Amino acid sequence: MKKDDYLIFALGKGRLARHAAECLMSIGLDCEEILDKNTRKLIFTDEKNKCKFFLAKGPDVPTYVEYGAADIGIVGEDTILEENRNIFEVMDLGFGKCRMCIAGPKEAAELLKGRERIKVATKYPKICKDYFYNEKNQTVEIIKLNGSVELAPIVGLSDVICDIVETGSTLKENGLVVLEEVCPLSARMVVNQVSMRMKNDRITKIINDWRDKCLS
Ligand code: PRP
Repeated sequence: MKKDDYLIFALGKGRLARHAAECLMSIGLDCEEILDKNTRKLIFTDEKNKCKFFLAKGPDVPTYVEYGAADIGIVGEDTILEENRNIFEVMDLGFGKCRMCIAGPKEAAELLKGRERIKVATKYPKICKDYFYNEKNQTVEIIKLNGSVELAPIVGLSDVICDIVETGSTLKENGLVVLEEVCPLSARMVVNQVSMRMKNDRITKIINDWRDKCLS
């Protein structure tokens, strides 16, 4: 069986994968194994429907889709904005809703009013740069981190952070507050540009079925 006979899905590991897998199952695809918390498997096959599903780090999903290693990706809009890949974004999936925010200790609000150069820690340097340079016209020093970004202003690495806020618990439990909202975010379906032509019927069916069964 050639790779081209399968429709290949890349799912961002973590928060979005479970919800994505539930939607895929509700449109009749078998990817139940993804929901097994004990499995270390990264790739799952539904032979009956000729689909494969793999779990990748969120920021890598647009890369797999751009290069055609996956036909379809399910990933957060934050990652799409940050990675800026040549892929089609075909649907807002309506889950994984959160906000990209500038956050920090409440006293840091003053620093965002002026024009002084401040330090911003983030996993999203591109989104952060676009916001400060194009929207706010404030010069900032961007410090790239890979996670637990809330630590940065607490330990004095940065003045503020640019990060995702979902429930707000991480900020609250660490004595930080939202200072400004950059943009709202949600999970998106993305498609490889060649697959969109070569596997158009199958991909269109997935989009339509998903819209019927999973979007309220
Ligand atoms: C994300 C984000 C915040 C947290 C926000 O981190 O970077 O830290 O979730 O969620 P909340 O508002 O519901 O508390 P994630 O859990 O992905 O881990 P990471 O910091 O290691 O990247």
